[in-house]
Parts: sequence; structure tokens; C-alpha cells
Amino acid sequence: MSGKHFYVTTPIYYVNDKPHLGHAYTTVATDAKARFHRLRGEPARMLTGTDEHGQKLEQAAAEAGRDPFAFATENSEKFKALWKKLNIAYDDYIRTTEERHKTGVQEIWRRAEAAGDIYKGEYEGKYCVSCENFLTDLQLDEGKCPDCGRPADPVREESYFFRLSKYQEPLLELYERNPRFIQPDSRRNEIVSFVSGGLRDLSVSRTSFKWGVPVPGDPAHVIYVWFDALSNYATAAGFGQSGSGQGGSESGFPADTAWPADQHFIGKDILRFHSVYWPAFLMSAGLPLPGQIFSHGWWTVEGQKMSKSLGNAVDPHWLIEEYGVDAIRYFILREIPFGADGDFSHGQLIDRINSDLANDLGNLLYRTLNMVRRYRGGKISRGEGDGGEEARLAGIVREAAARYEAQMEATDLQAGLRTVWEIVSAGNKYIDAAAPWALAKSGPEERLDSALYHAGAALRVIAALISPVMPEAADSIARQLGLAGDWLSAPFAELVDLYKMPGDLDTDLGKPLFPRIEEDARAALEERVAARIAAGSETVEASDSEGEGLISIDDFRRVELRSARVEAAENIPKSKNLLKIEVSLGEERRTIVAGVARHYAPDELVGRTVVIVANLKPAKLMGVESQGMLLAAEDEDGLRLVGVEGGIRSGSRVR
Ligand code: MSP
Repeated sequence: MSGKHFYVTTPIYYVNDKPHLGHAYTTVATDAKARFHRLRGEPARMLTGTDEHGQKLEQAAAEAGRDPFAFATENSEKFKALWKKLNIAYDDYIRTTEERHKTGVQEIWRRAEAAGDIYKGEYEGKYCVSCENFLTDLQLDEGKCPDCGRPADPVREESYFFRLSKYQEPLLELYERNPRFIQPDSRRNEIVSFVSGGLRDLSVSRTSFKWGVPVPGDPAHVIYVWFDALSNYATAAGFGQSGSGQGGSESGFPADTAWPADQHFIGKDILRFHSVYWPAFLMSAGLPLPGQIFSHGWWTVEGQKMSKSLGNAVDPHWLIEEYGVDAIRYFILREIPFGADGDFSHGQLIDRINSDLANDLGNLLYRTLNMVRRYRGGKISRGEGDGGEEARLAGIVREAAARYEAQMEATDLQAGLRTVWEIVSAGNKYIDAAAPWALAKSGPEERLDSALYHAGAALRVIAALISPVMPEAADSIARQLGLAGDWLSAPFAELVDLYKMPGDLDTDLGKPLFPRIEEDARAALEERVAARIAAGSETVEASDSEGEGLISIDDFRRVELRSARVEAAENIPKSKNLLKIEVSLGEERRTIVAGVARHYAPDELVGRTVVIVANLKPAKLMGVESQGMLLAAEDEDGLRLVGVEGGIRSGSRVR
């Protein structure tokens, strides 16, 4: 562990859309890890946030007809709302549009530049906007992005490059020196072989859109969104805030910084960015490296790749409403080994709720407190006496708690939970063997008290150990046992020691923690799932432009039409058809190459208010970059431009 805190992070999420199950998974796992460290009495710091720059966001905002920042803010709030509902106890939430981040990113850039690792060139190749990833022809899969399967765009533009090639050896040394830098091992091996195959320098700036952090000293370029996004882990820890300025060599972190992070939790799809680019950027900037990158697997839903319609059936808000927050947190961490892929099925979820939560844990709590109420008027007292069963239970708890600690430490969250259920099962067996109902009839009373104390004490240990994953259930068990409100702040060694439970407790048996989902409720739930899948596909179909040739209102809104005033126009040498036109959209000026030369003389255009498509990809025509398109109507007799009447402000949206 570094510094004063155990510092653990989630990826920062793209805000082009609302959060889904995959995002919830990474975040719940990270939260559970942070809470585990807090449980052990270590201060832990959890960071999450949103990745708000880049072409994907700029496009999504334009499609929605929104200003990028307002659009990002609205979606970032959706992530925050879900984290609240999922009981995520994060300490900091960073948005890459915040000043503290932007200054920090620029400082990392300056340091990399000062190290001689950044140079200007031209990028020519493909770009996947969805993954925000540069791709070579070799990587493409029939013209499509190998990761997300979407078509990749050709890109040719001036770009700064980062000398990634220089870091091939240092990275291999890092993986060698710190074999746990990338986990799980299978993923580490993939990365080692990828890096061993050689690294090409990486394009780290873009010029064809604006939505990003400007390159220091060259604001025509915005910093590549992954360079920007990865830096969040350091900027949130205060990097670049001290005003150290122009690529300084001092640490750049405040004295009490949490950096370096101990662990970055991420999905396997973004491993390369985290385990190759990120440490290389840090090495270049002369900054300490994080301790570990833990890459988890991907969820399918009901055996299929998560799609819009299936996503609707696992919408995290809806899942929480149907099953309860802790059942969901438990299921996603218990169902599959952390690091492997898995399938989310409602049937499996219901089975787990019924067996692990309702039957095993719920029953242990219910039968214990029910007997305490019936035989002892709700009071747990210490009692004397050990029939051998007690010592056995204490031994199992001791051993299991130590094993749990090692498993959670190693981020084997599934194994940690399985270990807790060994205690649950030992608790149930203990009650069967101690048979308090027989002791209640024929005594001795001391033994009855001891049996109820031991069963309650096992529940207290269980509550402590499930608290990182199921914080509400843990608190509810503690409350029902009659423990004090601050029960969880006791030292870990005491929390897992049966005999450290107070010997005089007023219990309060509440409603069942996890009610069983009976057959009729199960059938009704399955119907609701099917209805959601169907509703999800309807939304997808409604937005599908193929079919009857109709488009939805959302499809139409993707086209950003704006009013523009023609400021200047001129012929393009050697072209009979094209005019070069300068238009103003308020603050912004654009050059548009339009095929209107046969219909208008340049002078006729100046001063008119026309309508342009403002979010068209720029294209070069006769050596001039055209940044939009004029709208015009055409028939056999000629072509007339579409205009806007009266004194409308330039740049106004046309709907
Ligand atoms: N913005 C980048 C991360 C930048 S970190 C410096 C990004 N964002 S994301 O919103 O697309 O995804 C974030 C996380 O969600 C990733 O860890 C990804 O693996 C996870 N998941 C997205 N879909 C998933 C599943 N179907 N299953 C499990 N996790 C998945 O990438």
C-alpha cells in the first residue's frame, strides 16, 4: 500500500449515454474493494467519475442537438444518481471538464514534451469513434473496429505523436519486475506478448474537432481523449494543482496526495490503454506508477451479447427496484470469478437469492433471533458452557476469516464471498447440533444462553465480512442483533472474533432480510423481463431508419442545421462548379466549398443568410477543406439556395 491511503479507482465513464450493467459492475467491485480496506481499518480512497471529452461525446451531443458540456453534465448526473442508489461510497468524483483536471493533463503533456517524447507529424489511418481508438489496417476486421465491430473512419490530419516505441523495453521490464502489475495472469501474458511485438508511436492529438483539452502552446490541437482520460487518476490526486507550471521536475503532487493508486479496476476492453499507454505516459512525465491494473471480464445477458433490448432487461435502476440493491451487488460479485466473463440470467439470480440469501443467510438470522425472542425474551446473554461444538465453530470462523482476508486482498471477490458462506453454513449446522429448542425444554439454561450467543456471534462476524459487498444487509443484521450504531468501526481482529460480541444485547427481529421469491412471483418476474426485452427492441426498431424508409425524430435531430451569414465568396481556380464561401455562425467562422458556381456569382451571395449542415465531417475539395454544406433546392431550371427570412442571428439552430 502506498502513502496514507489505499487508493482505488474505477474507469471514468463515457457520458454519451446512460449507465448500464457493465458500468455498475466495475463500480460495485471497486466499491467493495475500498470498503474491504476500510473494514480492515485502513483509510481507503475511492475515485470514480466521467470521461467527457472527445469526438464520440461531441457527436452524441450534436446528434441530440445539445451543447456538449450541458449534455455531458446531464449524463454525468445519471451516473451519480445510480451510484447513490447502488450505495457506492466514493470519496471523489472527477469530471474531465473540470479545471483541476484540465490543468493537470496539460502539465503531464508538458512534462512528456520536455522529456522529448512528443513530436508533430501527420496521422493517416483509421479511427474508431466509439472506442476512441486509432487503428491500423492490420488491426481492422473487414474495415470494422476489432473491438466494437463498428465501421472505422478514415482520418488524415496533423497530429502530435507520443514516442511510445521508446517505452517498449521499460514496459517489459516493469511487467517483469512487478509480475502482479497486470491481473489476472492471463491478461498479463496477452499484454506482454503485445508489447514484445513492438510498439508504434501513438497519435496523441486531434485537429478535426474541438471538444477536448487544448494542447499547451498549440490550441488548434486537442489532446487525444485517452491521454486526457487516463490522466484523471493523477489529476484527482491533485497533480498539477500546485501551479508548478511549465513541465517542472518536482513531484507536482500535493504533500498529502493519495497517488500512486494502488489499483485501477477496469474492464478487459480497456486493458491496453491502462497497462501500456498509461504507464508509458507516467514514465515519460517522470511520475510514480500505479500498483496494479485489474481487468475484469464482460457480462453477456441471458447468454447473448448485451444489446439495447437486452440492456433494458438489466437496466440497473430496474434491477435494484425488483430485487433490492444488495441482492444485485451480491449476485454480480458472487456469480463469476472476478476477471472472467459471465452471463447475467434472471433465473440464476433468483436461484441465488433463494438459496444463498433467503435460505442460508436469511434463515440463520431468522431462526437465531426467533429463538432468542421465544426462549429469552429477545435478550442475548453470554452464558457458559462448551459442548465441543462451540470450539469447532470458533475454529471455523477464525480460519475462514483469515482466508477471506487474503482472498479479498488478492481481489478474488467471488472466493471471499464463498468463504463467508462457509461460516453461514457452519452457523446453521451449529444450531442443528446445539439444538437450543431441546436446551429450552430441559436446560441447562447456561448452555441455552451459550448456544444463542454463539449463533448470534457468528452472525455478527458474517455481517462484518459481507459489509463490503452488502452494506445495507450488514447494517440490518447488526441492528437486529442489537449492536451499537458504530459496530463496524471496531478493529478487524475484534470484528472476526466470536467472543468480542458484547454479552448483553437487546435483539429486534425485523422483516426477512431477503424474502424468498416463490414460484408465482418468479413467473410474474419472468414476464416482466420478457416485456422489457420487447420494449427495448421496439425502441431500437423505432430508431432504425431501414424498413419503410421513415426516420425517427431523433434521426432527423442528428443533422445539425444552422443559419449562417455569407461573409465572403470566391471562385476556386480551375473549377467551373465550386465556390469557396466563408460563412459566420456567430462566434465561429467556417469555410464551405459549395457546388453553386453555375448558378450564383460570388458577389450575389455575400450578405445572405443561408442554411448549412454544421455537423458534417470535413472533406477536402480541390485542395480546400469544406466544413459544412449549404442547403439548396434544385429542378430542371436551376438551383436556389435555402435561406432564412428576417434578422435571425447567425448560427441559430434550424429545426
Ligand atoms: N471512458 C472509458 C474509460 C476511460 S478510463 C481512463 C470507457 N468508458 S465506458 O463507459 O465505455 O466503460 C467503462 C467500463 O464499463 C469499462 O471498464 C468496461 O469494461 C465496462 N463495461 C462496459 N460494458 C460491459 C459489459 N457488458 N460487462 C462488463 N463490463 C463492461 O471505456
